[in-house]
Amino acid sequence: MTRVIAIMNQKGGVGKTTTTINLGHALAIEGKTVTILDMDPQGQIATGVGLNNNDGLDRVLLDGAKIDDYIVSARDNLNIVSAGAQLSDFEHVSIGGATRGHKLRLAIEASSLKQRDYVLIDCPPSSGLLGINAMFAADELIIPVSGDYLSLQGLSRMMHILKRAESLAGREIKLWLVMTRMQMRRRLTQEVRSKVLKYFPGRVFTTAIRENVSLAECPSFGKTIFDYKVKSAGGEDYQSLAHDILQGRTS
Ligand SMILES: Nc1ncnc2c1ncn2[C@@H]1O[C@H](COP(=O)(O)OP(=O)(O)OP(=O)(O)O)[C@@H](O)[C@H]1O
Ligand SMILES: [Mg+2]
Repeated sequence: MTRVIAIMNQKGGVGKTTTTINLGHALAIEGKTVTILDMDPQGQIATGVGLNNNDGLDRVLLDGAKIDDYIVSARDNLNIVSAGAQLSDFEHVSIGGATRGHKLRLAIEASSLKQRDYVLIDCPPSSGLLGINAMFAADELIIPVSGDYLSLQGLSRMMHILKRAESLAGREIKLWLVMTRMQMRRRLTQEVRSKVLKYFPGRVFTTAIRENVSLAECPSFGKTIFDYKVKSAGGEDYQSLAHDILQGRTS
């Protein structure tokens, strides 16, 4: 059974893309087959693994092209489908009514992705049509929450959107949270973590991703943390997060 997981938060800069790439590579290293879909027009998935942001989901969503024609191998067990330069145009598509929200789900169902162990979807920092498509395509959501108070404000809106998506889709979408960019010595960080644990009992992954300079450096070299510096806090944390996901380990 494929686990389709969207990494989503409307708040910018919380670590969605960093988590998608490094968690994807960690799961691939564990022997799982993983494909990452880049639903963010910023196109940082391809560049983050050292590839070009060539045509990809833009052609799939705008022209009805097949996902399978745009799957590119990135590492052992790890494939990607790029955003492509035109993906932002999809936010302005107005024809198609309610079916516009289901394009990604239908494209995945018509593809070979359902033979993979994991499909990870990197989402943009917005709640438009791209995010809606990711939500309808996903069985599970991972919401990265960074250790500052503004993160908490965005969460209640996310929950509202999730509940609406669930009622429209007529099924449950499993929710997970992961604390990111944690500065463990800051009191604020600990306060945010304990609030999130209180409001989402059993839904917060045990591993918290620490703020780590190597994680910030590696995309500029087209490397994941496992290519760049496996023995770093970032390498340890994303490997540990992969284990949380494999085992459903939460606090
Ligand atoms: N744990 C971390 N330690 C240090 N830097 C980090 C960490 N996580 C993310 N960053 C850096 O913070 C910035 C934002 O991270 P990232 O791009 O993953 O967030 P995002 O949620 O995908 O942003 P956007 O909303 O723009 O898509 C990047 O420069 C990234 O390298
Ligand atoms: Mg991003």
